[in-house]
Amino acid sequence: MNILLIGSGGREHALAWKIGASPLVDRLYCAPGNGGIEAIASCINLDVGNHGAVIDFCREHLIGLVVVGPEAPLVDGIADALSAENIPVFGPSAAAAQLEGSKGFTKDMCAKYGIPTAAYGRFTEPDSAKQYIAEHGVPTVVKADGLAAGKGVIIAHTLAEANNAIDMMFDGEFGDAGVEVVVEEFMVGEEASFFALADGTTTLALATAQDHKAVGEGDTGPNTGGMGAYSPAPVMTDSMITRVMTEIIEPTAAAMSDMSCTYKGVFFAGLMITETGPKLIEYNCRFGDPECQVLMMRMTSDIVPLLLAVADGTLSQQSVSWSENTALTVVLAAKGYPGAYSKGSKIENINDASSDENVEIFHAGTKREKSGIIAVGGRVLNVTAQAPSVGQAKNLAYAAVSKIEWPEGFCRSDIGWRAIDRD
Ligand code: AMP
Ligand code: GLY
Repeated sequence: MNILLIGSGGREHALAWKIGASPLVDRLYCAPGNGGIEAIASCINLDVGNHGAVIDFCREHLIGLVVVGPEAPLVDGIADALSAENIPVFGPSAAAAQLEGSKGFTKDMCAKYGIPTAAYGRFTEPDSAKQYIAEHGVPTVVKADGLAAGKGVIIAHTLAEANNAIDMMFDGEFGDAGVEVVVEEFMVGEEASFFALADGTTTLALATAQDHKAVGEGDTGPNTGGMGAYSPAPVMTDSMITRVMTEIIEPTAAAMSDMSCTYKGVFFAGLMITETGPKLIEYNCRFGDPECQVLMMRMTSDIVPLLLAVADGTLSQQSVSWSENTALTVVLAAKGYPGAYSKGSKIENINDASSDENVEIFHAGTKREKSGIIAVGGRVLNVTAQAPSVGQAKNLAYAAVSKIEWPEGFCRSDIGWRAIDRD
């Protein structure tokens, strides 16, 4: 079978690596791909916003499955366009992708179907939002309703901070994403990410992960797309996973079907494990980046039958298995990220750094030129290792990091610290 993968990040390199290892795959194409994906797939120039062009490509190249990595094409309806042409696609419809595309939509669904989450209010103008905050107090969480590249969330510890956040959002700081604002109760607990597949009738638990969003050591400083992650998340015991499936994931799948926006794809649930149990922070409608890198490293099943089963509604016939190992990934980013950074610096010794069979280096913002690998993005490499414990996985990953020669890059030195402290 031929497969088309859409995206260009570390998540897509990890998916390409796992999909490409399947004996079911004849040719793997990736649009647009990156410097690492190029070594294992045919990278193509395709305007994924032009659904007609994507459909034409699929017909010409006998594509049997399209796998959509990022959220933007999903929210833009690429799965609807492909499904209408009977081209199997992994990823939800635009209506179902509202689960990520609109925080208000998801909060209303949780309220209607009794899915545990923080108490909230939805607002389209500042005065009523400020009144809600005055009544409910601080700390509180102010969120832009729409997609804001992970940056539209402000945790306010004082009334002044909360009111400033409201003004900033309604003043257009996050563009259209902030036309509507959600104000939430501040939840206390330990965070974890949970992944599950859904085909419209069946849900299948995948695995858990924990990420490090902040740019600085000890989880300080501005938030990024993610500076590292590990799987499994120690806070997610087997009984907690069962609770998350029965209290959050399965009711969500049923609610989405009840609301005529049946969900097919991967649920990426951001959870707060509170004293009273798991509560939903937010949903994403795609794999996490860099969480996907550690999930793919641990998955021992062939991923292609799982992705196909989601697309064609036969997930009840599938199961999935995982290595007992912990996988941990360290993100190497360009100096300056998540602020301004420069592009075009050369990275050397990647092959030597990934020579250990338990190390994989997934590329994100890289380009392959005649002279070698060039950095062209903010997050650039994901140095990923697996080992029997999180401490060993961390040591192996950082040993690989130390072999990479890239003076213009940096990474955090403490990925996994919370899990290691627990051990
Ligand atoms: P989100 O983009 O919704 O995942 O939010 C980004 C981060 O803000 C989360 O990973 C949490 O650390 C934090 N956060 C979001 N909502 C809440 C909440 N209601 N209570 C506490 N922390 C939250
Ligand atoms: N690492 C967080 C995300 O992919 O949204």
